[in-house]
Amino acid sequence: DRHLLGLKQLDKEEIVSILDRAAHWERQPNKVTHLLEGKFVANMFFENSTRTRFSFEVAEKRLGAQVLNFSAAASSVEKGESIYDTVRTLESMGIDAGVIRMKPIGLLAELAEKIKVPLINAGDGNNEHPTQALLDLYTMRKSFGEIKGLTVSIIGDIMHSRVARSNLWGLQKLGANVKFCAPDNMRSEELGEHAPYVAIEEALQADVVMTLRVQLERHDKGFIRSAEDYREHYGLTVERAGMMKPHAIIMHPAPVNRGVEIDDELVEHEKSKIFTQMSHGVPIRMAVIERALA
Ligand code: CP
Repeated sequence: DRHLLGLKQLDKEEIVSILDRAAHWERQPNKVTHLLEGKFVANMFFENSTRTRFSFEVAEKRLGAQVLNFSAAASSVEKGESIYDTVRTLESMGIDAGVIRMKPIGLLAELAEKIKVPLINAGDGNNEHPTQALLDLYTMRKSFGEIKGLTVSIIGDIMHSRVARSNLWGLQKLGANVKFCAPDNMRSEELGEHAPYVAIEEALQADVVMTLRVQLERHDKGFIRSAEDYREHYGLTVERAGMMKPHAIIMHPAPVNRGVEIDDELVEHEKSKIFTQMSHGVPIRMAVIERALA
């Protein structure tokens, strides 16, 4: 199966093999290879993106593939065409693989049964964002040598977070100890069966403190009282970062709401891996595209 739908379905050996291959690509001195010459990859984004879309495009171009970029706003989706018909249309034109981001949950598995070319999940609703978690795992492995035994706290909007879900599945398979920290109305009971919710003071005593973006676009009005209130109770402030262990690192999938879930001064702090995470997005996505096509 060359699809990549999520980390829940991937076994530990496959995850490690993607991380190892990404390390190979990160070491490559040549910016462009010819590995995927003659292959066409379509990036199909039905939801907005900066990091994921561009790092997939850089990865595809570095592997020598031809890249087609589809954005819903400039397409016949605006006329009411469905996601399935759109993907089927691009398949009929001869694409070899598709990278897809969309809002509906459950649709990707249906598409993967009907579409013959490999599909790579670039984020589906609040379900999974596997390449984000892979680049997060890669960043942790590179920072600490191994993931087994690490304590990783994921703080914030757990309920709406596909990043939290993919990281949970990946981290537990690799032997990390995951803790969640979230206000009552941002918790997912289903995820609480897999990892405990802890107070912010306990969450700060981890090897990795991963803060999540407050996803205002997925909330009804009134879900958070105010940005100041969220920051006061759950934000990674300069004061709270001072309570972290000396060796611990700060992560965030970005984009960040500076001054809400993380203070402005911490985004590029010496403990922060936020821009390092983004740079790892390229070798990880090279490994994932290669797995789908090479
Ligand atoms: N982290 C992430 O997925 O960012 P984008 O939404 O900009 O792709």
